[in-house]
Amino acid sequence: MTDIPSAERVAQLRAALSEHGQEHVLRFADELSPDALDALLSELEALDLPRLDLRLKSVLGESHEDTSGELEPPRVVELDNSEAGRARDTAAREAGEELLRTGKVAAFLVAGGQGTRLGYAGPKGRFPVGPLTNRSLFAYHAQRVLAASRRYGNALPYYVMTSRANHADTVAAFEEASYWGLDREQVFFLTQGMLPAVDDQGRMLLAEKGALALSPDGHGGCFEALQRSGALHDMARRGVEQIFYFQVDNPLAPVFDPVFIGHHAQAGAEMSTKVVEKLDPDEKVGVLGRRGGVDCLLEYSDLDPAIASARDDNGKLRYRAGNIAIHMLQRAFAERLVNGELELPVHRANKKVPHVDSAGARVEPSEPNAIKLEMFVFDALGFAATTLVQEVRREDEFAPVKNAEGNDSPATSRAALSAQAKRWMTQAGLHVRDGDVEVGPLFALDVEAFCATLTGADFGPVFDRS
Ligand code: UTP
Repeated sequence: MTDIPSAERVAQLRAALSEHGQEHVLRFADELSPDALDALLSELEALDLPRLDLRLKSVLGESHEDTSGELEPPRVVELDNSEAGRARDTAAREAGEELLRTGKVAAFLVAGGQGTRLGYAGPKGRFPVGPLTNRSLFAYHAQRVLAASRRYGNALPYYVMTSRANHADTVAAFEEASYWGLDREQVFFLTQGMLPAVDDQGRMLLAEKGALALSPDGHGGCFEALQRSGALHDMARRGVEQIFYFQVDNPLAPVFDPVFIGHHAQAGAEMSTKVVEKLDPDEKVGVLGRRGGVDCLLEYSDLDPAIASARDDNGKLRYRAGNIAIHMLQRAFAERLVNGELELPVHRANKKVPHVDSAGARVEPSEPNAIKLEMFVFDALGFAATTLVQEVRREDEFAPVKNAEGNDSPATSRAALSAQAKRWMTQAGLHVRDGDVEVGPLFALDVEAFCATLTGADFGPVFDRS
């Protein structure tokens, strides 16, 4: 609680809110207990109202996206299994490994989402996805961080972004698992910001009489969260120069992939992106494009069907660089994004948001009634002076858990993990059995390590190591 009397705070806030047409959120202030009023006032005092106004103007007005400049496909470091391609990737790997050995790279997991499509109670990272062991998403990622730390002889720092709703449960998951063997000093939790949901006039909604309807500000909120939490400062203190960004729902994410780190560093890129080949024009994946010489992400929902289905001379989709949300970021670039000069755009999502109406009655909408505001990490690409796009194999790197059933579901993700393990077994000359197989990250981080670890003995369906 502050020392300023509540009445004075209410008056100050009322004046500020009314300048922005938002004073209605204090409508029930007189009915609240002192604690509830204090909580509401603190929430409102934390808002940057002029900035919110600008953001609302951009989402409520015409499209704010700059679509000037001719659209063309991005330049991609494509998969290339020729001798030259292998030599190129070996050089990148060596550059990446050097950065890892010298502790210049941090992993950054964003795990603040609400996971509404999956409908799982609790942070998505707790979701059991290991085909045989039910290893959780958090466990896959943490064990890769641990395996990479062992391999490169360095306790590589691991930053984990949560949101208000799942922070405590995320930290609890790490505690229960004793951080999966990581040194606690290695792990830094940070919580992303929240933005208010508004009605179609841009007026903030109240979730309760004494609380705004707030939701996480999107994965693009990660930059502000890195700064506000002191994580960027912590990275500088540890000598981290590069950030490996990935998302919680993808158990195949090859955390600290040295080849990607190396390509990014060799190109001097401020931001890099991994892509997989989009094969079907209707697939719901955003693709990379280039407009006016600057890389940008074309969201599948906004993509003109003619552009989405256009093919090049080889019969491949012209816009086929499907974004898998694995990025490299220079720390200096992340700092540039939050020093006040640049501002990621906000996007609108029309959602059902329960709230209290002007009479104080609870409304449970059956149709979208509100606008949620979100920032997207890939919008940062447009601000990067130099970018790099690297193609990778989907089956090796991308099997997200998004939906409860169908595409991108636990079933497809488990199948992809098992299929990868079988490919590794085949390459190692092992007999591939029927049914599921699972390889733990501590047993082997990649196929080379898998083959090197095996002596030819058949270990059974679970290749694991604590
Ligand atoms: P998604 O866009 O798939 O959203 O997030 P989601 O919240 O997980 O799931 P739905 O859309 O509600 O079903 C992709 C990644 O970005 C993170 C998620 O945790 C996931 O790792 N994310 C998303 C955040 O960290 N914060 C956000 O505000 C949104």
